[in-house]
Amino acid sequence: MSHTTASSATDIVAAALHAGTRAPSPHNTQPWEFRVHGETIEVLLDDTRVLGYCDPEAREATLACGAAVFNMRMAIAEQGRECVVEPLPDRARPLLLARVTMGGQRRPTPEEQRLASAVERRHTNRRPFLDREIPVAARHALTRAAAAEGTRLVLLDQAQRFDEFVALLRHADHVQQQDPRFQAELRAWTHGGERDDGVPKAAGGPRAADGGLLALRDFGGDVATEREFERRPLVAVLTTRGDTRLDMLRAGQAMQRVLLSATSAGLNASFLAQPIEVGSVRERLRELLGGHEQPQTALRLGYGYPSAATPRRPVEDVTREGAP
Ligand SMILES: Cc1cc2nc3c(=O)[nH]c(=O)nc-3n(C[C@H](O)[C@H](O)[C@H](O)COP(=O)(O)O)c2cc1C
Repeated sequence: MSHTTASSATDIVAAALHAGTRAPSPHNTQPWEFRVHGETIEVLLDDTRVLGYCDPEAREATLACGAAVFNMRMAIAEQGRECVVEPLPDRARPLLLARVTMGGQRRPTPEEQRLASAVERRHTNRRPFLDREIPVAARHALTRAAAAEGTRLVLLDQAQRFDEFVALLRHADHVQQQDPRFQAELRAWTHGGERDDGVPKAAGGPRAADGGLLALRDFGGDVATEREFERRPLVAVLTTRGDTRLDMLRAGQAMQRVLLSATSAGLNASFLAQPIEVGSVRERLRELLGGHEQPQTALRLGYGYPSAATPRRPVEDVTREGAP
């Protein structure tokens, strides 16, 4: 719907809720619940959907909810309304991560329109990318997207740092592969396509015949036959200064801004979260980045062919109307 046709508040709330559900989440757990009060949407963490072994501090679940907030911001802006976000607005309700409220009328910026239109097209792409360099201007656009949300996107485009990251990634992946509890949790969220949450095998991506340069999470896919994995992927780590829930929420919005900017520039992305999920490896990654920043998530970026969408729970299943 264009901003030139005034939409009703109900339609805008509906658009925002739909956009919220399109956010990425670890193992596609969709760990959110939305509550609507008039022109306000509360975004709550659904702690029954936090991954106990992979994400014991609910960092990734909070990032996912931050991404949902960012999608809502873009949907509301696209519809020609101001959007105000209050993070962690009520100490007495720790699961309430953000309150998203519509403000006055205003024209969306071209960037907001671009990012809003990328929400539906963005999918995690775990398939091999092409061996095509990402131009400097596109790299800058990604780092600007992270900076606009008060975070930093560190591009590991120097050989030594890249190699050190690859070693940490392999190590963390190995730790997780050896952990039966982690594996059981991953299996519980992987399926053949019959559920509206979790990762369907078709989206899980193929395995590299030789193990691959980057250890991608193994969702039980077959060995890649379409083409080999790229030789020099761009890896980027999103960092924050602090490591509080507020930082995680900010990181989630920044992550989504980076992902949507990538989508709108014709880029694809997948996640390399293992070194952040394994505590001891996260510490070493922090040191690798200079010791002053907190790594929140890591991404692999490149050009590729379209990947499959993952399902979502319907908006009605994650939304409640009325008083808290
Ligand atoms: C914080 C976070 C960490 C993630 N880590 C990984 C990962 O390490 N490996 C992976 O393949 N996917 C990872 N994902 C991607 C999710 O599995 C994906 O977002 C989800 O299945 C929904 O699919 P979609 O992104 O295509 O909409 C992560 C997502 C988030 C938000």
